[in-house]
Amino acid sequence: MRLLKLLILFITIQVSAQQGGMWIPSLLEGMNEQEMTNLGSKLTAKDIYDVNNSSLKDAIGHFNGGCTTEIISGKGLILTNHHCGFSQIQSHSSLENDYLKDGFWAMNLEEELPNEGLFVEFIVSIEDVTTQVLSGITDTMTEKEKQSSIDKNSNAIQKQTKTEAWQATKVKSFYQGNQYFLFVTERFEDIRLVGAPPSSIGKFGSDTDNWVFPRHTGDFSLFRIYADENNHPAKYSKTNKPYKPKHHLPVSLDGIEEGDFTLVFGFPGRTNEYLPSVAIEHITQEYNPSNIAIREAALKVIDAKMKSSDATRIKYASKQARIANAWKKWIGENLGIEKSNAVVNRKTFENNYAKALKTKKLDKKYGHILPEFDRLYGDFSKINIKRRNFIEVFLVTNELMQMTFRAYQMETAAKTNPNSFENAKAALVSRLKGIHKNYDVQVDKDVYKAVMPLYSNNVDISIYDKTAFTDLKSALQLLEGSPKEVFKKLNKDVAYKYAKPLIEEFINTIDAEFQKKNTSISALQKQYMKALMEALPNARYFPDANSTLRVTYGQVRGYSPRDAVYYQPVSYLDGIMEKYIAGDYEFDVPKKLRDLHASKDYGQYADSNGKVPVCFLGTNHTTGGNSGSPAIDAQGNLIGLNFDRVWEGTMSDMNYDPEICRNIMVDLRYILFIVDKYAGATHLIDEMTLVHPKKK
Ligand code: ARG
Ligand code: GLU
Repeated sequence: MRLLKLLILFITIQVSAQQGGMWIPSLLEGMNEQEMTNLGSKLTAKDIYDVNNSSLKDAIGHFNGGCTTEIISGKGLILTNHHCGFSQIQSHSSLENDYLKDGFWAMNLEEELPNEGLFVEFIVSIEDVTTQVLSGITDTMTEKEKQSSIDKNSNAIQKQTKTEAWQATKVKSFYQGNQYFLFVTERFEDIRLVGAPPSSIGKFGSDTDNWVFPRHTGDFSLFRIYADENNHPAKYSKTNKPYKPKHHLPVSLDGIEEGDFTLVFGFPGRTNEYLPSVAIEHITQEYNPSNIAIREAALKVIDAKMKSSDATRIKYASKQARIANAWKKWIGENLGIEKSNAVVNRKTFENNYAKALKTKKLDKKYGHILPEFDRLYGDFSKINIKRRNFIEVFLVTNELMQMTFRAYQMETAAKTNPNSFENAKAALVSRLKGIHKNYDVQVDKDVYKAVMPLYSNNVDISIYDKTAFTDLKSALQLLEGSPKEVFKKLNKDVAYKYAKPLIEEFINTIDAEFQKKNTSISALQKQYMKALMEALPNARYFPDANSTLRVTYGQVRGYSPRDAVYYQPVSYLDGIMEKYIAGDYEFDVPKKLRDLHASKDYGQYADSNGKVPVCFLGTNHTTGGNSGSPAIDAQGNLIGLNFDRVWEGTMSDMNYDPEICRNIMVDLRYILFIVDKYAGATHLIDEMTLVHPKKK
C-alpha cells in the first residue's frame, strides 16, 4: 500500500514535471521529443516541423493575426472558433439573414462568403538569427542604441533572405531579447465563410460559462482558403480556386479518454512566465483589482440596462462580452495565484536562485537584479496602475471619453502635419460612426457616473447634456469646415473641453513616465532571463509567448478546483439539456438539437458509452491566441479545438501549475455531429479525412 502510494506520487511528479511550456516548433528534437514520448506521443519532431517535407506545421495558420486555424481538407477547408469568426459572421448578418442567431451553412462553393480584410498566415520556415541580430551590440550602449542596432541588423537580415514573391519575412525577439528568430511566412487573403452554428450552440453558456468548466460550448466556425491558379496566395477574385495545402489534418473518430496524449499547435499571444515575485504581487494585489473594479462598475450598469431592454441588449452584446471576458479572467487569475501560493513559491525559488548565483560565483555579475526589481517596481507600480486605469475608463468602458480621445488624436495629428487633416478626419468619422452604431446615451452616461470617480476627482455629469458627441449628426457637424473652424468648434464642446486636460496629462505625463520606467524594467528582465539560464542551467526554459507558432503538449485530465470537488475531463450533450432554459439568451437550445438528443440520432459521433461528447480538458499550456488551435492526438490526427481555459488556471500566463491549469477544447466529434446531423452539411464531412487510429 505504501509502495503504491509512493509509486503514484512518483508518477504524478513525473507527469507534472514534463508539462507546461510553449515550445518553438523547429527546436523540438531532444528534450521535447522525449517528454512527448513519455506522455504517449508517437510523433517525431520532424512529423511536427520539417522544412523540406510536409509536416503538421503546414496545416496551422494564424487567423487574422489574433486566433489560430487549421486546415482539415485537401480543398483548403479551415476550422477555427465561433468567437474568432464572430465579426465576420456578424458582418454578413442582417435582420433577414441573422447568421449570428440562426447559423450559416454554404451548401456549395458558390455560396461561400468572402470577407474583406480577413487573412490567414502560414509559417514556411523558422531560423535562429541571434548572432547576426546581436552583432555589434556592446554593454556600454544605452538601451536605445541597442534597440536601433537590433532593428538595423534585423532589417538587413530580412533584405538578404531570399523568398518567393508571395512570401514575407519577419524577425522576432525571444527570451526577452536574448534570442532572435527569422520567420518566412505566406499570407492568404481570400478567406470565405463556409459555416457557423447558431450562437445558441457556438456561444452556448455565454458569459456565465465563460472561463469555467463544466463547459458545453460548440465554439467553432468553418472557412475556406482560396488561392490563384498557381495555388499561391492572392487577393479575392471570383476566379480563385480552393487552396490545395501541403498538409491537412485527418480527423479522428475514435475520440479521447483520460490520460491520452494531446498536442496543441498554434499562435499564443503573450505570457509573462519569468516575472519576479514583486511583479506578481503588484499585478495581483494592486493592478488587477483596480482594473477589475472599473470593469465591474461598468458591467453593473450595462448588465442591468441589457436586462431591462431588448434593444439595449442587442446594442451592447458585443461590447459587454469584450469587457466581461478580461474582467472574469483577471478574477480567476487572482484566485489561482492565491490558491497555488504562487508568490510565496516564487520567493522560495528566488532564494534558491540567489544561492545558485553564489555557488557559481555569478553574484557579482547578477546579484543586483532582484533588489533592483524591488526598487524599480516600487517606483513603477503607481504609474502602471494610473496609466492602465486611464485606458480602462477612456478606451474600454466609457464611450463619450473614447470619442473625445479619438477627436484629440485627430487634432494633434492634423496640427503636427496639416496635410494629414483629411485622413485623420476620415478616421475619426469612421470611429464615431462605429461607436454610434450601437450607442445608448443613457447607458453611457451611467457608465461615466460609475467609472470616472475611480479615475479622477474631476467628475461633471452635466457634460452629457451639452456635448455634440452623444448624437452622431451633431458630432459630424463638429467636423465640417476648414481645419481651423473644426478645431475651434471642437474646443468649444463641453465634453472635449472637459476631457482634453485629462488626455494631455495622460499623454505628456502618465504615459511618458510609464514608457521610461517600463524600458528599465524590460532591460532588467532581459538580464534576469540570462541570469536564470546561467545560474540554473538544468531547468526547462521556454520563451514567453509572442504571437509566434508554438507547440504545447500534455494529456487529457480532469482537476479539482476546490476541496471535495472533482471535474471529470469530458462533458456531454446530456449536460446541454441539463443547462437548457427555454428562451434564455445564454442557455436556450435550438429545437433541432433537442430533437436529435431525444431521438439519440448520433450517427458515428457518439462515444463508446453511447453519449455525444462536447468539451474536454487537457494539461496543455495555452493562452489568448491559442483560440482555434487544433488539439492533436498521438498520431497527428485532429481530436479537439482549443477555445478557453479553466478559471483558476488562467494564472498560467504568469504561473503554469499542472495541478489546476487546464485548457478547454471542443471535442471534434461534437463539431462533426453539428455539421452533419444538425446542419446537414454532409458535403463538408465528405471532403475531410476521417480516421480510426484506435481501432486496429
Ligand atoms: N474566454 C475565451 C477567450 O478568452 C472565450 C471568449 C469568447 N466568449 C465569451 N463569452 N465572451 O477569448
Ligand atoms: N479564448 C481565448 C482566445 O481567444 C483562449 C483562451 C485563453 O486565453 O486561453 O484566444
